[in-house]
Amino acid sequence: MNVKIKGTGSAVPKKCVTNDDLSMLMDTSDEWIRSRTGIESRHLAVEETTTSLATEAAKRALADAGITADELDLIIAATVTPDRFLPNLACEVQREIGAQHAVAFDINAACSGFLFGLGTAAMYLTNGVYQNALVIGAETLSKIMDWNDRSTCVLFGDGAGAAVVSAEQEKGGILSMVQGSDGARGMVLNCDNRPVNNPYIKNDTALAYVSMDGQAVYKFAVRTVPESIEAAVKKAGLTIEDIDLFVLHQANYRIIESVAKRLHQPMEKFPTNLQEFGNISAASVPILLDNVKNRGMIRTGSRIVLAGFGAGLTWGAMVLEW
Ligand code: ACO
Repeated sequence: MNVKIKGTGSAVPKKCVTNDDLSMLMDTSDEWIRSRTGIESRHLAVEETTTSLATEAAKRALADAGITADELDLIIAATVTPDRFLPNLACEVQREIGAQHAVAFDINAACSGFLFGLGTAAMYLTNGVYQNALVIGAETLSKIMDWNDRSTCVLFGDGAGAAVVSAEQEKGGILSMVQGSDGARGMVLNCDNRPVNNPYIKNDTALAYVSMDGQAVYKFAVRTVPESIEAAVKKAGLTIEDIDLFVLHQANYRIIESVAKRLHQPMEKFPTNLQEFGNISAASVPILLDNVKNRGMIRTGSRIVLAGFGAGLTWGAMVLEW
């Protein structure tokens, strides 16, 4: 059985905040942010929640795939910013779209989350356990940012992307996948949860926010991403030149340029949307995939690499034939 993406969808909050808007709130500038990251604006949730964005993206992906929520067997939501500890985001989306027959659970692999979700769904589909799955990447990262820390808060945004994947006899779909993790380097990008607090230990620690060693993350990304892409392409029995599009996690334009250079591929094969949306962690890859599809850049037979990388550390690359 092959696993194919049948539909995609995305949603971002209404409020668009430019670099100039941020420079009114903190000591930063459009020039600093743009020259180091390529980011020009980001969308921040005001009325929206992770659940509402995920639900909107899911509805659009279902409509694009031409299937109803009733036909879904599985929902996997990748997020580091669910609205609640309980219930999980996938169950909240299940309720909102009425996918009564689906099994629903979340995974957390930060910016690699959508890739890991897609890989997990593919295991169920190739083995004949389920027929149709919905994989979502959704975040409201703005709620875990320290808005007094200009070195992190300017980089991130909010939004959601989703894909409907189905088991098919037809050739193509997911050709290969590689994944990796390195918990030993995990603290270079972290955000603490609530501390232990019970009748035997009192903890009044203030809420924690995202903290990052930007240069360490940069070095990790520019080395690991091309390596994982090369490994996935080789596993698919293809060469880098056979790939039409590289849909990478949208952390930083300079990281993407460096990956393109290391793979000896033109930037035209590396679509980006970080200029408008910034870094949306697990939502980056599915939103960009949806944008690229809507821009008419994907045709039947197109060979596409999806690549995610981020906190954990985690990384993953997948080769698809559309
Ligand atoms: N505006 C103005 N000045 C700033 C800002 C800001 N928003 N943020 C930091 N600065 C200042 C710092 O205070 C510092 O000033 P100083 O020299 O007087 O101390 C100076 O700019 C340089 O700071 P650095 O942190 O050294 O800046 P650097 O050139 O390394 O750029 C950046 C930071 C853009 C984060 C870079 O390290 C990078 O691209 N890292 C990749 C990490 C990344 O993209 N992370 C995204 C999340 S992870 C993921 O999704 C995989």
